[in-house]
Amino acid sequence: MNILLTGGSGYIGSHTVALLAGAGNHVVLYDNLCNSHADVVTRLNRIVGRSLVLVQGDVRDADLLERTLQEQRIEAVVHFAGLKAVGESVADPLAYYDNNVTGTLCLLWAMQRCGVRTLVFSSSATVYGDPQYLPVDEMHPTSAVNPYGRSKLHVEEMLSDLAASDGDWRIACMRYFNPVGAHESGLIGEDPSGVPNNLMPYIAQVAAGHRDRLSVYGGDYDTPDGTGVRDFVHVADLADGHLAALNYLGSSEGAGWHAFNLGTGQGYSVLQVVREFERASGREVPYEIVARRPGDVASSYASPDKARLILGWQARRGLDEMCASAWRWQRYGERL
Ligand SMILES: NC(=O)c1ccc[n+]([C@@H]2O[C@H](COP(=O)([O-])OP(=O)(O)OC[C@H]3O[C@@H](n4cnc5c(N)ncnc54)[C@H](O)[C@@H]3O)[C@@H](O)[C@H]2O)c1
Repeated sequence: MNILLTGGSGYIGSHTVALLAGAGNHVVLYDNLCNSHADVVTRLNRIVGRSLVLVQGDVRDADLLERTLQEQRIEAVVHFAGLKAVGESVADPLAYYDNNVTGTLCLLWAMQRCGVRTLVFSSSATVYGDPQYLPVDEMHPTSAVNPYGRSKLHVEEMLSDLAASDGDWRIACMRYFNPVGAHESGLIGEDPSGVPNNLMPYIAQVAAGHRDRLSVYGGDYDTPDGTGVRDFVHVADLADGHLAALNYLGSSEGAGWHAFNLGTGQGYSVLQVVREFERASGREVPYEIVARRPGDVASSYASPDKARLILGWQARRGLDEMCASAWRWQRYGERL
């Protein structure tokens, strides 16, 4: 299949590129490189053993998108491109609505004009807001507690309206829980600029000695060890989930709009992750418990049953592999 991956040189996009290209698809990366580097493609070429196409462009550039969809004879799009930092979205909401909502709108116009109507969208568990029950399944009410979450929710609603208006659309919204880990080759992984927003890259930088200690926000939650519990899911399992979604959308049942949780269904606390990372790296990870962060909840984890039953997808990699691969990637980055 000919597949366009917007945001294909980013963290989750690059792992999905590796999988889809490795499975023999013609993949085209479309990325404005605002949060990634073109040399990711050089490393992807090493992984897949051939030269991949990167179109450097913005999803808000409808002309370039249309040209790319036509010239590359694209049949399906996986849409990763977007901004993802919650704090930044609170400080600059217009940038988030512009990039995430207007960007998706431009993409949909271009796809419609070119007759491409199969789309897998990177959504997030953030569309559930604060969990009202656990595990969180796809029937859980949606709500958003910050502009980033609202941008994802707006896009999901736009996609649902579109699918309801025209039965030719085949759309899957993938609601990721907490993506972590890196490719088994150690050649690609999460590459945050500045201070990492996410737990695992922060721990990796502490283990490598680049930061003094990890601040653990809250040690008095109603959880087994008092620290927050989250559903961490290996990025390679997420990549498998996108392949499964594309296969489903291409099947006789795939028409319409669908939402799927991508998580393991198993919650791990922050301190469990710290201990597993210490084991995987052989390094100490000093930490201190500090005050809770406003807006954080005690526990959140998915029910992945729908993805298992309908897509035949299930996360296969455990916390040990998540930590070991993140450490391998951290070590690779230091050799660059
Ligand atoms: N990583 C997570 O924790 C997480 C969790 C839930 C959902 N998501 C969603 O998954 C998607 C991918 O996340 P990621 O972690 O790989 O992020 P990332 O920042 O590593 O990748 C996003 C890519 O999109 C590109 N991009 C951004 N705006 C663009 C635009 N207007 N035009 C073209 N390219 C653009 C960036 O350069 C980057 O390469 C995002 O939509 C994000 O909101 C991520």
